[in-house]
Amino acid sequence: MSPAQFSTAVLDWYDQHGRKDLPWQQGINPYRVWVSEIMLQQTQVSTVLGYFDRFMAALPTVSDLAAAPEDEVLHLWTGLGYYTRARNLQKTAQIVMAEHGGIFPHDADKLTELPGIGRSTAGAIASLSMGLRAPILDGNVKRVLARYVAQEGYPGEPKVAKQLWDVAERFTPQARVNHYTQAMMDLGATLCTRSKPSCLLCPLKSGCQAHLLGLEIRYPIAKPRKALPQRRTLMPILTRAGEVLLYRRPSSGLWGGLWSLPELDDLPDLDLLASRHALQLGARRELAGLTHTFSHFQLAIEPWLIRVEAAPSAVAEADWLWYNLATPPRLGLAAPVKKLLKRAADTLATEQTPGEQP
Ligand code: ADE
Repeated sequence: MSPAQFSTAVLDWYDQHGRKDLPWQQGINPYRVWVSEIMLQQTQVSTVLGYFDRFMAALPTVSDLAAAPEDEVLHLWTGLGYYTRARNLQKTAQIVMAEHGGIFPHDADKLTELPGIGRSTAGAIASLSMGLRAPILDGNVKRVLARYVAQEGYPGEPKVAKQLWDVAERFTPQARVNHYTQAMMDLGATLCTRSKPSCLLCPLKSGCQAHLLGLEIRYPIAKPRKALPQRRTLMPILTRAGEVLLYRRPSSGLWGGLWSLPELDDLPDLDLLASRHALQLGARRELAGLTHTFSHFQLAIEPWLIRVEAAPSAVAEADWLWYNLATPPRLGLAAPVKKLLKRAADTLATEQTPGEQP
């Protein structure tokens, strides 16, 4: 879509579906819009609704806010959180009174020089209350645009943010910029949601690259994760007559209460395990490894398939059992263990010579 087609589609959607009844959309002026935008920076619309009218009733103009006792401002803010916002609000009101004659600068760039007003908030104030053509890029709009252009790279990176700002700039129309801005925010908040976007209802679907690729959820690209610490462990798959030796993990901790393969730091420790269970070991071979990712580290698992030539008829210890691969008991297995047991079963099946009993 051309920028004109893009903004027309957004504005047509606004006419039908955009929000027009919010309190800061009534009696619009820069002061009311500014206060609402600051309140909405880290707080949902539904919460802000309970605060905005009370704040305006107590402090109806920028001069009232500038002159109010700080305690009064903080009192009106109580429950909204992020109190730096309230202190910056009053600082800005005082600057507007002292340096701008009580009138907010009619210029998005100049607005960003005021405490608490970043580029997107400046764009929102300039477009919503002054009709100035100024782009916005708050979290919701970022999602809409990142999907629309299938923006690669994490938007927290300055280079990527700049590209998205360029997109925002390109699509922002001259006319009805106030409705356009509101519509973009509403699209992001209602249709183009993070995990379940309603693409079929979206006015931008025919040009949305993420939608055309079927990759809406991939965008915006998530913050790259720091490399997790690596650990390794050996997992002996001790097998005898189609059964594998498992043990139950302690109920607290990783894989708490699940059944797992034994873990060894090194292969020589195998002898300790064998003597603990009075096993006589036979041939062994290493199977393909597996990496399992926990929230705080990655575990590289080196599985070894080990034949058990002789073993006591029953396991002596509680929380250990011989697990039958062909008729598995119904119990909880750690996910990688389940995978390894399948691998072991497949390997055993192919290694079996015809006629051999399992
Ligand atoms: N979030 C930030 N600004 C908003 C606005 N003007 N309307 C609804 N949600 C918003």
